[in-house]
Amino acid sequence: MNGAPLPRFPGGFTWGVATSAFQIEGATAEDGRGESIWDVFCRKPGAIRHHQTADVADDHYHRWREDVELMAGLGVGGYRFSLAWPRIQPTGRGPANPAGLDFYERLTDALLARGITPVPTLYHWDLPQPLQEHGGWLARETAARFAEYAGLAAARLADRIPLWITLNEPITVTAYGYALGFHAPGTALMVKALPTAHHQLLGHGLAAAALRAAGARQVAITNNYAPAWPASRTEADREAAHAYDILHNRLFTDPVLLGTYPDLSAFGLPAGLDCVRDGDLAAIAAPVDALGVNYYMPMRLSALPDSTLPFQMEPIPGYPVTAFGWPVVPAALTELLLLLRGRYGAALPPVYITENGCSADDQVTAAGAVGDEDRISYLDGHVRAVHEAMQAGVDVRGYFVWSLMDNFEWTEGFHQRFGLVYVDFTTQRRTPKDSFGWYRDLIAAQHD
Ligand code: FCB
Repeated sequence: MNGAPLPRFPGGFTWGVATSAFQIEGATAEDGRGESIWDVFCRKPGAIRHHQTADVADDHYHRWREDVELMAGLGVGGYRFSLAWPRIQPTGRGPANPAGLDFYERLTDALLARGITPVPTLYHWDLPQPLQEHGGWLARETAARFAEYAGLAAARLADRIPLWITLNEPITVTAYGYALGFHAPGTALMVKALPTAHHQLLGHGLAAAALRAAGARQVAITNNYAPAWPASRTEADREAAHAYDILHNRLFTDPVLLGTYPDLSAFGLPAGLDCVRDGDLAAIAAPVDALGVNYYMPMRLSALPDSTLPFQMEPIPGYPVTAFGWPVVPAALTELLLLLRGRYGAALPPVYITENGCSADDQVTAAGAVGDEDRISYLDGHVRAVHEAMQAGVDVRGYFVWSLMDNFEWTEGFHQRFGLVYVDFTTQRRTPKDSFGWYRDLIAAQHD
């Protein structure tokens, strides 16, 4: 860890933590919640490590008051969470389930009462299962359904929510969910999954309009970004990195900020996506107020000839790795922010780091402590990296640690712990880790 004092951030900078509904709430069958594609996927043999499910997860649906108190103790100014679409619209269409909205309204009001700004994401991967039965994001209709749901959420909450996020990491949905099948809904369509990219983006555009029509003030979209490093100087590896960069970093950002799709010819689509209709790009490119950046690590790519995906991922030697095996490269976050600024220039809105953090093999000692020095070092490095990008002129307005607490890490189940708070999944006891104290002190020092 860097021993130098942490730099000072501008006064209005938001320090926050992030979670998502499916990963923490549990109570999957309570108060009228419908089934989501992740409920179904968790039951698929072999899909999740140790056959774990999120039926209980962190039991946040019942323990949210305690979790808000934890955040108040941390001193955060913002909380990024997600709304479960199947709680608000159990079948993905039709009128709202009032009990679902009540839950998020109580949470919102409790946050505001503690001086914490609620930053909800509308879609963090838990699509209502009935929509999947009509094609999910392969179906254009899902974009319209998403906008309808956005309107229902905003009709209840827009007066109290300053910033909405439409989608979380649509690249992960397209790549892991539909192209490779590691995530729900678990189809392995490869390039045929690409219509899900366009339909999610259209969903973003239509939802943004629905949010604003219902009085929402600011709207953003969040993606995962990773600087793409060629494994060697060869032309082939440079092209591989370029193709990865298009897919991972540009496919979901160029249309929103520039109103155009990047060149997809590396994926055998010289004429682009044929599901795009007149007017779609205008809807997608309606101005956003912020860009959400989730950053964990860079990617190193080499060429993979004669393959639909023309690249393969290579290890990045020479850096520490997290429990997930992800390389820890804070400088790549500065590089990424500068890349975004260079690429989009004046079209880049203010940026929020909407997720950043690491998993570690955390253990509670007999004395009830969790010494997670590696996480502190990870966060310290990345906070400095954000500051460096700001010094170089990138307009970053906030930083949200992933995650407030250990939770259901998708296919890894409860195995990968990302929290500032340790959760014992048998007793649901929450134990702040050392990183919690570190982050609390950082935030307090920024306000001195
Ligand atoms: C991101 C997801 C988030 C969490 C972290 C570790 O891709 O948005 O839900 O799983 O990775």
